Amino acid sequence: MTKPTPSAILFVCLGNICRSPLAEAAFRHEVARAGLTVEADSAGTGDWHVGHAPDPRAQATALRHGIDISNYRARQIQRDDFHRFDMIFALDAENLANIHRLAPADHRAHVGLLLDMVPGREGQAVADPYYGDDAGFDVTWQDVQSAARALIRHFA
Ligand code: 4NP
Repeated sequence: MTKPTPSAILFVCLGNICRSPLAEAAFRHEVARAGLTVEADSAGTGDWHVGHAPDPRAQATALRHGIDISNYRARQIQRDDFHRFDMIFALDAENLANIHRLAPADHRAHVGLLLDMVPGREGQAVADPYYGDDAGFDVTWQDVQSAARALIRHFA
């Protein structure tokens, strides 16, 4: 069933330099293609990379798909995000648990696992490519692109 289009979606991983910037980029791309207006952002539950540009391998992956993410900067999720965003998606279960822990009691945002939006992928994580090789970033891209397309289908 088609749901009302949310006005703002946040994607959250651990460092905000690999998976969630790619999720944000893929989603922005699909939103533009669909002619929709939905704000998108990404954040990390950790603070190690705050202020940093995405990992060079993530930047290269996005660029191969025609998307420049060199101007993205990592930030840490904050309590205000639960009021600014209608939907907050974790890239894996560990980050989902940490997001739930941070959530203010009165928030109204939908908080869930990103791949729960993809039929057949429910409960699965977008694997962390940080410690792996370049090929892992292609897997990340396929996962976040599937999720972005599923999200658009969900409310477009
Ligand atoms: P991300 O990947 O959560 O997809 O941005 C990681 C980036 C950095 C670290 C771990 C995961 N780190 O430990 O620094």
